[in-house]
Amino acid sequence: MLKSIILSTLLLSLKITALPADNSTAYYKGLESSLMDNGLSGLWNAISTANQTESGQELIKKLYSDDKFTIYAPNNAAWASSNLTQPPANENLVSLLSYHIVKATLNSSTDIAPIRHHTIAFTELRTPTIDLPGDQTQVIVLETAVNQTTGQDVNDGSVLVRGDNWNATSSGNQFIYENLFIQPIDKPSPLLKTLSQTGLSLTANMGATSAISAISSSGLNETLSNHCHGCTFFIPVNNAFDQATQTTNFSNLPQNEKSSVILNHILNGSTLYSPDFKSGSAYVTSAGMPLLYLTDDNDGKQKVFIQVGKYRASILRSDIPVSNGVVHLIDTLMVVPQNNHDKADDAAKSAAHEAESRTTTTNVIGGGGHTATSTASGPSSSSTQSQSLGSSTINHDLGNVFKISLSALVLGALW
Ligand SMILES: *[C@@H]1O[C@H](CO)[C@@H](O)[C@H](O)[C@H]1NC(C)=O
Ligand SMILES: *[C@@H]1O[C@H](CO)[C@@H](O)[C@H](O)[C@H]1NC(C)=O
Ligand SMILES: *[C@@H]1O[C@H](CO)[C@@H](O)[C@H](O)[C@H]1NC(C)=O
Ligand SMILES: *[C@@H]1O[C@H](CO)[C@@H](O)[C@H](O)[C@H]1NC(C)=O
Ligand SMILES: *[C@@H]1O[C@H](CO)[C@@H](O)[C@H](O)[C@H]1NC(C)=O
Ligand SMILES: *[C@@H]1O[C@H](CO)[C@@H](O)[C@H](O)[C@H]1NC(C)=O
Ligand SMILES: *[C@@H]1O[C@H](CO)[C@@H](O)[C@H](O)[C@H]1NC(C)=O
Ligand SMILES: *[C@@H]1O[C@H](CO)[C@@H](O)[C@H](O)[C@H]1NC(C)=O
Ligand SMILES: *[C@@H]1O[C@H](CO)[C@@H](O)[C@H](O)[C@H]1NC(C)=O
Repeated sequence: MLKSIILSTLLLSLKITALPADNSTAYYKGLESSLMDNGLSGLWNAISTANQTESGQELIKKLYSDDKFTIYAPNNAAWASSNLTQPPANENLVSLLSYHIVKATLNSSTDIAPIRHHTIAFTELRTPTIDLPGDQTQVIVLETAVNQTTGQDVNDGSVLVRGDNWNATSSGNQFIYENLFIQPIDKPSPLLKTLSQTGLSLTANMGATSAISAISSSGLNETLSNHCHGCTFFIPVNNAFDQATQTTNFSNLPQNEKSSVILNHILNGSTLYSPDFKSGSAYVTSAGMPLLYLTDDNDGKQKVFIQVGKYRASILRSDIPVSNGVVHLIDTLMVVPQNNHDKADDAAKSAAHEAESRTTTTNVIGGGGHTATSTASGPSSSSTQSQSLGSSTINHDLGNVFKISLSALVLGALW
């Protein structure tokens, strides 16, 4: 009796961890039918086309495994409107598909952060398409869709994929095939176009052209694109620049001090997304000065800002992925011309070391929207993850190594 219970428990657990389907032929046949049945023949077409390349084959082979994946599947209209009904079998197509696949299960109804918060999911898009340290992959930014009339979460399992100047929206219900959660969406990501540009390719309509030209005229293009392997960029919007030229001495600063001002808006070697930040954390900028991340809960509304020197900047928009890191738009140019090269070097080195030696990352941060956070924290909302994010492991606290303690910062004359 006992024996048989043990045996059946054993069998049960074997069954749970076993590969999906009986064999890979059956698995992919089943996937084809499932996609066809759900009106996603365009995706199947893209998959079979990508499978004609070596890297595509590798990607597609990954799906038949013990791991679970979520696929953000562009629907047929989406492929058509992007002129990708007959995509060419090349690396771009493989990258495009990779960017729509996450190695974790993300239930659209329960695992996505509510509006003004982000769920950051690490996709299968890796180097060389992107320039992030270690095995860190490019992220897809998700939030719960909003009813335009009420401004509230729709709450029907609709999700929004946030791009720089584009959004994709879920179209229809998420469904499951074997080990895959498949969420149809209305657009394949145009992100790859952005990624193929070098440098801080913020499009003009994001309203940060002044910062981009200040970076250029300070001769920092090369530094920020080729000597930044996974950076966090706090970029002031145009208003912030206009104001700073009137109310500060920024325009009159010598060139090297202007450069320091800009580098004081960047964290070198670590890519920090909104759920990574914790109130009170301190970081070291790429000019070597301390940068604080703070939240303010006045009036029940949370404001999120960063501080360098005496300057405080509110974060207006977070989590815009770029090829070598992430951009957060801010409302103030922090005119801090000081620098400390030793501190900057140390911070960059430990960030790089941390990134290279890290072998596993969690594949989702900032999940568990509806169950976890309601009116609570802003973009800093803790990365409470619901049960279904099962395949996520270890932790992604990139900041740890070069974060310094707040008390050291306040008490010590370290800086
Ligand atoms: C794969 O599984 C299918 C369905 O169970 C079966 O019909 C087929 O013979 C199997 N093929 C191989 C090569 O084992
Ligand atoms: C991908 O290509 C390989 C090699 O040609 C083939 O064995 C495999 O069945 C293909 N997979 C799919 C999903 O088309
Ligand atoms: C698709 O092709 C048509 C005709 O060539 C063109 O007008 C349209 O802009 C293209 N759309 C995209 C998204 O590239
Ligand atoms: C997601 O969660 C909801 C609520 O628990 C459940 O009804 C639904 O079936 C789940 N969806 C998938 C694809 O598992
Ligand atoms: C948005 O909210 C309004 C008012 O509650 C409702 O009538 C409408 O159907 C909602 N739209 C969607 C897309 O959920
Ligand atoms: C994308 O969605 C967000 C949140 O609803 C909205 O504020 C923004 O304007 C949208 N962007 C575009 C380009 O539609
Ligand atoms: C720097 O990059 C921007 C856009 O990313 C470009 O417009 C500018 O010409 C570049 N400047 C130099 C000096 O190459
Ligand atoms: C500009 O202002 C900053 C901060 O107020 C100050 O530290 C710096 O010395 C000033 N620089 C010049 C050239 O006036
Ligand atoms: C980042 O640090 C590396 C190593 O210290 C350095 O070579 C690079 O120029 C730095 N990049 C920036 C943007 O400060």
